[in-house]
Amino acid sequence: MQKILIVDDEDANRAILHNILKDDYSVETAEDGKAALECLQEYHDEIAALLLDLHMPELDGFAVIEEMKRNGWMRRVPILIISAEHAVEIENQCFQLGVSDFIHKPFAPSIVKNRVKNTIEMFNCKNQLEIRVEEQSKIIKLQEERLGNLESFNKMMIEYRSAIMEVETKLKVLNAMFSEKYKRNPFESIKSRLKKPESIYKKLERKGYPITIENVRKYVADVAGLRVICSFPDDIYRLAELLVRQDDIILLKEKDYIKLPKPNGYRSLHLILNVPVFLPDEKKYIKAEVQFRTIAMDFWASLEHKLKYKKDIDNTQEIERQLKACADSIEELDYQMQEIRNKIDNASSAALSGDTWEK
Ligand code: GTP
Ligand code: MG
Repeated sequence: MQKILIVDDEDANRAILHNILKDDYSVETAEDGKAALECLQEYHDEIAALLLDLHMPELDGFAVIEEMKRNGWMRRVPILIISAEHAVEIENQCFQLGVSDFIHKPFAPSIVKNRVKNTIEMFNCKNQLEIRVEEQSKIIKLQEERLGNLESFNKMMIEYRSAIMEVETKLKVLNAMFSEKYKRNPFESIKSRLKKPESIYKKLERKGYPITIENVRKYVADVAGLRVICSFPDDIYRLAELLVRQDDIILLKEKDYIKLPKPNGYRSLHLILNVPVFLPDEKKYIKAEVQFRTIAMDFWASLEHKLKYKKDIDNTQEIERQLKACADSIEELDYQMQEIRNKIDNASSAALSGDTWEK
């Protein structure tokens, strides 16, 4: 139960309000301003709302508000004034001081309940929103500090996006030429993705490098990512070779997880390339990671990828074993399909007929 504090010098008022609210809240009471402040001192972290009388001997409601302000408690505890006061100036003065609402005497139970409930809810919403805005501004400030300024970061991201477009165009051109020669498309589809800023920061942090533009360029090879999905394993190598052979492409690294699969069964050919991007005032080499896979390998990798993001799976080991077995079957299947394709290709084609399906 949420805790609320009722402050009123009249016993009867405290008793009535206590009665109205006791079923929904854990109610604390105080009979004057001094007792209220003592209670707040102890519980201000727990109190969900303060119902405060204005006119009290010695320390009145206004003095309590002033002291709460001084201590920074107004940010944590919403105040509802309980008062017989109807004067507009007084109400205005209270709102200006940061009070959330008024409950007028005599008390109507349903009104009291609703006003308290709404005030608590709205105050929580406002607080959460403020916290989120604060967090967001902190992140933006951090990014700006670490990456010089947003402008140079955005410029870098445009360069990576351009690198994706360059590689994609090259692959599409190869596809057209290749399909003319072999009468089939070497790849089924190309997917691309630009790494999100959060993932870039996380990767640099994981690798132990400070977050700077230079370090992104130097140590994050997959900001520009492309995935080329082929039908057959030999198309992967043919296509990769044709791409790397182009005289403006620099191969920085090749990881052949098809010839040397990962222990979990993951197969793909990864190329880290330096790609020339033509900017208004210069030609710049930008890194891009291209992954080549067969349709079956891609199907496997997407399913296996899901496993990494699930926490509460009971029999992970059994699933990993099954995935490894599937990966092995897929390898066999890929090469069997390739063999069948070879046989079909080698048979003399009497007449090629039939409609072609557009993509
Ligand atoms: P990352 O830090 O993940 O980029 O790994 P890395 O820099 O050591 O490079 P690696 O070549 O191992 O992996 C590059 C990318 O290939 C990953 O980001 C994934 O997209 C993909 N990949 C690598 N290993 C696996 C795997 O075991 N399963 C799946 N589903 N994808 C993988
Ligand atoms: Mg990666």
